[in-house]
Amino acid sequence: PRYIWLSRHGESQYNLEGKIGGDADLSERGWKYARKLKDMVNEYIPNNENLQVWTSTLTRTQQTGSFLPYPKKTWKALDELDAGSCDGLTYDEIAEQFPGDFKARDDNKFEYRYPGGESYRDVITRLEPIIMELENQENVLVITHQAVLRCIYAYFMNVHQEDSPWMSIPLHTLIKLDIRAYDTIVTRIKADI
Ligand code: F6P
Repeated sequence: PRYIWLSRHGESQYNLEGKIGGDADLSERGWKYARKLKDMVNEYIPNNENLQVWTSTLTRTQQTGSFLPYPKKTWKALDELDAGSCDGLTYDEIAEQFPGDFKARDDNKFEYRYPGGESYRDVITRLEPIIMELENQENVLVITHQAVLRCIYAYFMNVHQEDSPWMSIPLHTLIKLDIRAYDTIVTRIKADI
């Protein structure tokens, strides 16, 4: 069997404040999830002696993985969708300061590229090496960000890439992808925190 485990980082200070992007630390609740994740891995991941943990270069994913005693790999390509000039703003602030952009994103969330930043399409392009590498692995836990996970999830679930921006990837949930020859079986395990 081949499993890919997906998790967003625990709740960050920016999540609490409704701000996008940035490189914030985990909130108290986020740290709780990080500790809980260790128990969840022990409970739900069989053969975890060969598990690898992949994170982005951002603090919140590394903090989330910090209690997991497995080999780790940090990938720049797993960093969150770059919101360019809108990084660090709330959606309300974006609507106020960049009204044209807010509407353009609403019209086409997949193609919309933040000024000086990225689109979902751009993220899918930079994720190609990660996906290739994941195709060769048997047991990897990927701790990364909402937009990035939506793209990885859509790929393994055989969902059209244009639909990636609407995949539901909640916080504090471990997603198990059981990769079969012709389909993927998904199980979602919500953390009890
Ligand atoms: O709010 C958390 C976050 O990861 C942001 O950093 C990112 O811009 C956003 O989610 C992506 O979600 P959406 O594409 O729905 O704005």
